[in-house]
Amino acid sequence: MPEQARIGVLTSGGDAPGMNAAIRSVVRMTIANGGEAVAIYQGYEGLLDGASRPMELGSVGGVLDRGGTFIGTSRSERMYSEEGLDLARQRYEEMGLTGLVIIGGDGSYRAAQELHERGLRVMGIPGTIDNDVAGTDTTIGFDTALNTICDATSKVRDTASSHERTFVIEVMGRACGLLALHAGLAAGADCILVPEVPWKIEDVCASVKQGVERGKKHSIIVVAEGAGHAFGIAEDLGTLCGHPVRAVVLGHIQRGGAPSAFDRILASRMGAAAVEGLMAGESGMAVGLRNADTVLYPLPEAYSSHHTMKRHIYDLAMVLAR
Ligand code: F6P
Repeated sequence: MPEQARIGVLTSGGDAPGMNAAIRSVVRMTIANGGEAVAIYQGYEGLLDGASRPMELGSVGGVLDRGGTFIGTSRSERMYSEEGLDLARQRYEEMGLTGLVIIGGDGSYRAAQELHERGLRVMGIPGTIDNDVAGTDTTIGFDTALNTICDATSKVRDTASSHERTFVIEVMGRACGLLALHAGLAAGADCILVPEVPWKIEDVCASVKQGVERGKKHSIIVVAEGAGHAFGIAEDLGTLCGHPVRAVVLGHIQRGGAPSAFDRILASRMGAAAVEGLMAGESGMAVGLRNADTVLYPLPEAYSSHHTMKRHIYDLAMVLAR
């Protein structure tokens, strides 16, 4: 007799818009395929504490369009220790799970791989606004965060053009410049600073001055948090250019809000692919999106290198910014 599937789902690391849509998909796909679904609260911390609840179809009603993660998340230090990993395995067995879906970023994937090596059946779904997970074209939350940044940048631009000012806008992304690059391209930034490309304040100043010479009333500089900090850059730039420069740090507003349609669809597809993979006997795999199709690939491929910006997109953004 085939084993009765009992699939757990948890969200881990920074929340990202679309995580709820992924949870909903995991729960409903599991039930649709004759299995039982279990939500684990507060990420790996909830797994370690045995904080879980069985999910019905209705348990995930009304969450598709909500930001954050309704089952909570955490960055679990305990999962870095042998004791923590052993306890996680014990809890998995106590909960009677036959599989576990982990929605998170590369740190969450590392722990997932450790669990896989201890015999648990796991599947990763990339949920992070940073889009720094290797092996997938994009991650759940990236598109929504981009839209949030574009919206915020347009608002800043209103003030920048009214006052003929230069603004430096700092965006998240950890060590990855993808969010800044794509936001800068989509929002028409005059200059984009990313950790992948060395930059000098003198060049930023020259580009601002060039703009002024050709009659531009304002400048918007988007900086990835991994490339520098808005307040320091604004101060240095102001001194060099000879006019005041304002700084805006968008911070956690980039992580909140209703997921875009793209992220809802991506999350729904990835949740389904994770459940199908587990039910087909796969484990230790990550779900990715490649050329518009979902794929499964080994978890270590997702974190042993980073998804990073494409140089030709950066070059295009620089040409269009002139
Ligand atoms: O990984 C998502 C992210 O938002 C990064 O862009 C950022 O560096 C980090 O999380 C912030 O983490 P926290 O919310 O723990 O301050």
